Amino acid sequence: MRFIVTAGPTREHIDPVRFLSNPSTGRMGFAVARAAAERGHEVTLVSGPVALKTPKGVTRVDVTSAREMLAAVEDALGDAQDGAGAPVIVATAAVADWRPAQTAAKKLKKRDMTGVLRLVRNPDILKTVKCARKIGFAAETGDALAEAARKCREKGLAMVVANDVTEKGAGFGVSTNRVAFVKSDGSAERLPLMSKLAVARRIVRFAETLA
Ligand code: CTP
Repeated sequence: MRFIVTAGPTREHIDPVRFLSNPSTGRMGFAVARAAAERGHEVTLVSGPVALKTPKGVTRVDVTSAREMLAAVEDALGDAQDGAGAPVIVATAAVADWRPAQTAAKKLKKRDMTGVLRLVRNPDILKTVKCARKIGFAAETGDALAEAARKCREKGLAMVVANDVTEKGAGFGVSTNRVAFVKSDGSAERLPLMSKLAVARRIVRFAETLA
């Protein structure tokens, strides 16, 4: 099978030396890419700025902003969006939902700043791409299962991997995760605390059932 995995944060530049972003390290996405490659799948990993080594056998495309990430995913998808040979998309990236309305070409001087930054919405990558086999993530700070079920419906996903990032051992910058698989049929399976690689292997096994 073909897998397209998004990973890491995006950066939305205000000027060449300032940006809006988040603390995603990319570990979960890199683990999914590794797990899929280990199972013999063809993997394209579209990553925001992270400090991780590309897993063996994985094709990596580096991007900075959400719009670049969307373009790279669409490029990797090509014409094969549905039917036999269509890839599975696993979206682990922590995509910035908003970007500055303008990006200054030169460093802004504080005397030129007003204290107000106007933002515009970024595209929702997972919702935008036309693909039958999509798996998303929902990093929440409470009520993760209900939010995951909503995202599953709204983005037309086969499954959402839900986690509460305020829980110990889950979320940003740690090597473990405690997640629940919320599927399009409404079922929810809670998994125990396990390594991100172990979670990734479970996700890949589920993706294989979508073939
Ligand atoms: N996602 C995406 N593009 C975006 C925002 C999110 O592809 N612009 C993907 C993420 O990679 C993840 C899923 O959508 O797989 C859910 O992301 P999340 O940030 O939790 O959800 P949002 O849709 O931004 O919802 P909300 O702000 O309402 O929590």
